[in-house]
Amino acid sequence: MCGIVGYIGDRSNVLNVLMDGLRRLEYRGYDSAGVAGIVNGEIDVYKEPGKVANLDQLVHIENDVVFQKVGIAHTRWATHGPPNQMNAHPHFDQDKEFCAVHNGIIENYATLKNQLQKKGHIFHTQTDSEVIPVLVKEFYDGDLFSAVTAALRQIVGTYGIALVSKHEPNKIIVARKGSPIVIGVGTDETVIASDVAAVVKHTNNVIYLDDGDVAEVSVDNIEIRNLDAVPVSRKVDKVDWDIASAEKGGFEHFMLKEIYEQPDSIKNAIRGRLNFEQGTAILSGLNMTPGELTEIERVIITACGTSMHAGMVAEYYFEDLAHILTDVDQAAEFRYRNPIVNNKCLVIPISQSGETADTLAALREAHMKGAKVSGLVNAVGSTIAREAGRGVYLHAGPEISVASTKAFTCQVTVLLMMALKFARSHRMPMPVGKTIANEIQKIPDYVQQVIERSGEIEKIAKKWCKCHDWFFIGRSYLYPTALEGALKLKEISYLHAEGYNAAELKHGPIALLTEDVPVVALANDIDGKDKVLSNMQECKARKAPLIATATEGDQEVADLTDDIIWIPKCHPLVSPVPTAVALQLLSYYVAKELGCSIDQPRNLAKSVTVE
Ligand code: AGP
Ligand code: GLU
Repeated sequence: MCGIVGYIGDRSNVLNVLMDGLRRLEYRGYDSAGVAGIVNGEIDVYKEPGKVANLDQLVHIENDVVFQKVGIAHTRWATHGPPNQMNAHPHFDQDKEFCAVHNGIIENYATLKNQLQKKGHIFHTQTDSEVIPVLVKEFYDGDLFSAVTAALRQIVGTYGIALVSKHEPNKIIVARKGSPIVIGVGTDETVIASDVAAVVKHTNNVIYLDDGDVAEVSVDNIEIRNLDAVPVSRKVDKVDWDIASAEKGGFEHFMLKEIYEQPDSIKNAIRGRLNFEQGTAILSGLNMTPGELTEIERVIITACGTSMHAGMVAEYYFEDLAHILTDVDQAAEFRYRNPIVNNKCLVIPISQSGETADTLAALREAHMKGAKVSGLVNAVGSTIAREAGRGVYLHAGPEISVASTKAFTCQVTVLLMMALKFARSHRMPMPVGKTIANEIQKIPDYVQQVIERSGEIEKIAKKWCKCHDWFFIGRSYLYPTALEGALKLKEISYLHAEGYNAAELKHGPIALLTEDVPVVALANDIDGKDKVLSNMQECKARKAPLIATATEGDQEVADLTDDIIWIPKCHPLVSPVPTAVALQLLSYYVAKELGCSIDQPRNLAKSVTVE
């Protein structure tokens, strides 16, 4: 699930390319790392638990390792076996003839391992991945490509792999099924990786492998075939972001950089997509005529985590504006509960990474049941974007911090534009559409105004960061925003935070309130604000400290709370966006004050490609 890098070419400093690639994949979250190359005809492997810096120390300081021409590297997010040195990748067979790195899960590894052990093969690790080099050894008969495909045909599960062999040292074999592999095509060199972030420093020309593809990569040739050795052709795409967008650019953390980027990322998400004269949105990726839009009787949004929270905001948008029955399904549930879906249904999978296993499976289920599918994805060329067939890109740029920020606000903005487009092809009159289009255009400005209040939010964070339990409450559009606020806080500060509908608090959770449990109430000026004020009174009566977001100048809310974060006066529909930014900043400063590892929180991975 984590990171793969590989290099083949004429450089003498292959190790630097590999280590640089691993560092660029660090943001995905991992527990150990390793590299392998071929030195004097033999495979040389180095691995270490912990950070890439530990591996760096091992290869550069303790051993003066030099790899020429070819090498593979890995950061691991353990699924099978604890994260120690032995279980770190790369893995190899007992005679070190074949060496592989693997992302994903081999579901039938126990059976395969058993069969291979009976044939005399010896295993050293507790991982599922070790069966790959051992299986390749079992099948090797002078042709590496055939041995790898024969091995992969035995495997049930998911994989992105890169494999080298001392018998054919001038090539790397890569393959994918359910776990991404990109091939960066340079001049006289090829960099392969599981994520373009490790490639863009070297080239912007990439080939995305499809599931079932196996590629034989040599210095001057890339040959892609399927598991039956039938050649397949894959086009070379251009990655449209440069290396600067994947670096911190002077910010202490990627998360802060990405929070501050939001006025620009939202501008990019909106650019060219609003028609102010008609009061509608232009989303050509949706690829549906107004007639087809009116045929949609139901929208199902499916996603995980933060992306699902964006979907929950959109449920209100679609129902309020377009009057279309809309449901939000956790992707993991959708895939297994035999959902009722037909061709009058539009299923919208939402994913920042475009690689989340549950969301991808939900998308496939939707296709299988004959629904129309339109993806909302940030990572261009990712699996969900490609398999959806049609959809809308976020254009938020690369999101490196594990805690999603700019993807959320762009998702909400684009979903509002989608709902507007639907609404205008249903019953919404043009003047209402125009008002909404104008408000969407102002979102970047609202966000900028919140960012300018960072100092005030930091003070509030410092005041309350020692509290171990928090509640976030809101109603209507701000209810999913509250869920997202709580998720952000727990992800990066490890404090216990729960998001609730403000009304729901009194049905149980209020029992937990004390003077040490802050309640963050989203009390902006939207429908239902009065009720939120009553809910806040209920909390105050239980001595809970109150922090509120409120529409600038709202004295009534200010009088009730211990601390207040002002949100610019804006249309209720767009209020989740600046409010979410305020909550991102609150979480960020709490986590910073507590000294947490903000960009790579413990136990988390940026893209969750396992179930
Ligand atoms: C967000 O901060 C989380 N790290 C996580 O909930 C994430 O949103 C979820 O895993 C879905 O990811 P995706 O958008 O890439 O599909
Ligand atoms: N399942 C493999 C392991 O536990 C690969 C994990 C990963 O994708 O990093 O080693």
